[in-house]
Amino acid sequence: MNSINLIESDKINLLIDGLTEKGWATVDDFLPLEIANSLRKELNDEFEKGEFDKAGIGRRGVDWQLRPEIRSDYVKWLQPNQLTEFQQLYWTQIDNFKQAINQELYLSLNNFESHFAIYPPKSFYKKHLDHHQTAQRRFISCILYFNQDWKKEDGGELRIYAQDDNEDNKNKAQTDILPIFNRFVCMRSELIWHEVLPSEKRNRMSITGWLRREI
Ligand code: OGA
Ligand code: MN
Repeated sequence: MNSINLIESDKINLLIDGLTEKGWATVDDFLPLEIANSLRKELNDEFEKGEFDKAGIGRRGVDWQLRPEIRSDYVKWLQPNQLTEFQQLYWTQIDNFKQAINQELYLSLNNFESHFAIYPPKSFYKKHLDHHQTAQRRFISCILYFNQDWKKEDGGELRIYAQDDNEDNKNKAQTDILPIFNRFVCMRSELIWHEVLPSEKRNRMSITGWLRREI
């Protein structure tokens, strides 16, 4: 399989336009099916093996805290030097995206960190920004979903609030995105407030990562 240009440039362009115009964007059918299916299986297998940990907030090793009233999902960090074949393909994909962002948005992103995430029924992540004040600034949040036949009644939508200087509008304008299989969402980590609404009866699965600038 050609691992260099996995996503079509028109999809990348749509994402870049969205990031520029409103601070976030989404496209469907992000990965070739075989890769998406394999990642989904890896995620599921790791979860069943008990490889996930309860997610916390703050920086790993610095001010990390378990805060179940804020978020109640489970995560498994991917190890950049021990990626599986399919994880590597995803990173390659993100790398293409990163290069386009650097060119079009005049950023100098040079790093990516990523984890698998599972939200069991009733779990959530309250309204937040993804940015931490660190030397490894998170600029763009990237999420890819793995939930086949996910319906509105399954809950677990990603609620995105409008990026708006007007304080009154900040909490009003919002978009809810269903976490359906092979749908990709990206947003400006420092600017876009968002939350994960409680899922209902099913595990909600995704891979979440951040393009960063390490200085
Ligand atoms: C996060 C997050 C959104 C989602 O992990 O920081 O906001 O839709 N995830 O899973
Ligand atoms: Mn987030």
